[in-house]
Amino acid sequence: MFESLAPAPPDAILGLGEAFKNDPNPRKINLSVGVYKDARGQTPVLRCVKEAERRLLEQENNKSYLSIEGSAAYGKSVRELLFGTDHDIIRGGRAVTAQTPGGTGGLRVAADFLQRKFPGRRVWFSKPTWDNHLNIFASAGLSVESYPYIDRTGRELDFDAMLAAMETMAAGDVIVLHACCHNPTGIDPSGEQWERIARAVRARQLLPLVDFAYQGFGGTLEQDAVGLRTLCQQNPELLICSSFSKNFGLYNERVGAVTVVAADKASADAALTHIRVCIRVNYSNPPSHGAAIVATVLNDPALRGEWEQELTEMRQRIAEMRVRFVQTMKSKAPRHDFDFIARQKGMFSFSGLTPMQVDELRTKYSIYVVLNGGRINVAGMTDDNLETLCSAIAEGLLNRAD
Ligand code: LMR
Repeated sequence: MFESLAPAPPDAILGLGEAFKNDPNPRKINLSVGVYKDARGQTPVLRCVKEAERRLLEQENNKSYLSIEGSAAYGKSVRELLFGTDHDIIRGGRAVTAQTPGGTGGLRVAADFLQRKFPGRRVWFSKPTWDNHLNIFASAGLSVESYPYIDRTGRELDFDAMLAAMETMAAGDVIVLHACCHNPTGIDPSGEQWERIARAVRARQLLPLVDFAYQGFGGTLEQDAVGLRTLCQQNPELLICSSFSKNFGLYNERVGAVTVVAADKASADAALTHIRVCIRVNYSNPPSHGAAIVATVLNDPALRGEWEQELTEMRQRIAEMRVRFVQTMKSKAPRHDFDFIARQKGMFSFSGLTPMQVDELRTKYSIYVVLNGGRINVAGMTDDNLETLCSAIAEGLLNRAD
């Protein structure tokens, strides 16, 4: 049977990482997959993580299965980060959390839950969105749709078009919103725009599914939660898929969560029983290590303080590289405006490079960026590669087109 199989196309994001590994050019630059690099181009293990792992190694005395929904201490920590410790939702027991293998695992569990209990729902995604979003929900059997998100320049939110599209959504449709650091554009709604989104979600009786993979990368932990918490004020029911890949640097430990918010505790508890069914038939129960690290750090005041410090350092370095990129481009291609890159949030920016330019960056300069909007991982820029990168964009692409 397998002889008839033609190879599947490489993954739009992870496939580039593989191509990068195989590229022999010593000056190659990887700005594709969303992984943080420090000033030396390394992806560090956070100090707080190392310390938590040391403690876990000492204390761990069995490797038995976790429950289907994972560690209760971890679930509680997840909810406290999402809503804040003293939130009504937490006090009322209206939120339940399942630990999942990464944010991607959380999204797939959420999709399976929707398809099992509310089959045939339409699920709406911003255009553009993370390359894997549509595949995950379509694979679960849901019907996927897009709403407009950015304007013609590709540099600003087209808020009116987004709201107008929401008017066409039907009651019970699911709208996927990126809580902060929109992937792939880096363009987020303002606080006032979140208020209006929250009201529109309520008016249309939509179910918001919030993808929250970058808390602490755009602003502080609290600032980045404003969109989610605004939605919660207006809407009694939500799904939230969150991840510690980026803000804990725990990429390969696969630590994420799906959280269901319901109108009351009994409904939330019932929803969790269905989430458990989806997990059991998929991967049975989650791996322990990464979530144990997160719970250890978040429940120890000193380690938590150290984590927040390290997270701040990552956020500030990315913000600084945004400014440095804009300045360097100004000196190399003065007639082209890249100021928008400094205004965007989180790891990614839509560079606006065309598919041909993206291809040329790779084939001629061994610079890897994602095809979708020429998405650049700003967190991959360093002192060592900034000059090469900007020269390639300016000399190779922009100036020539002038
Ligand atoms: C990204 O968008 O690059 C990351 O979220 C990694 C991934 O799984 O695609």
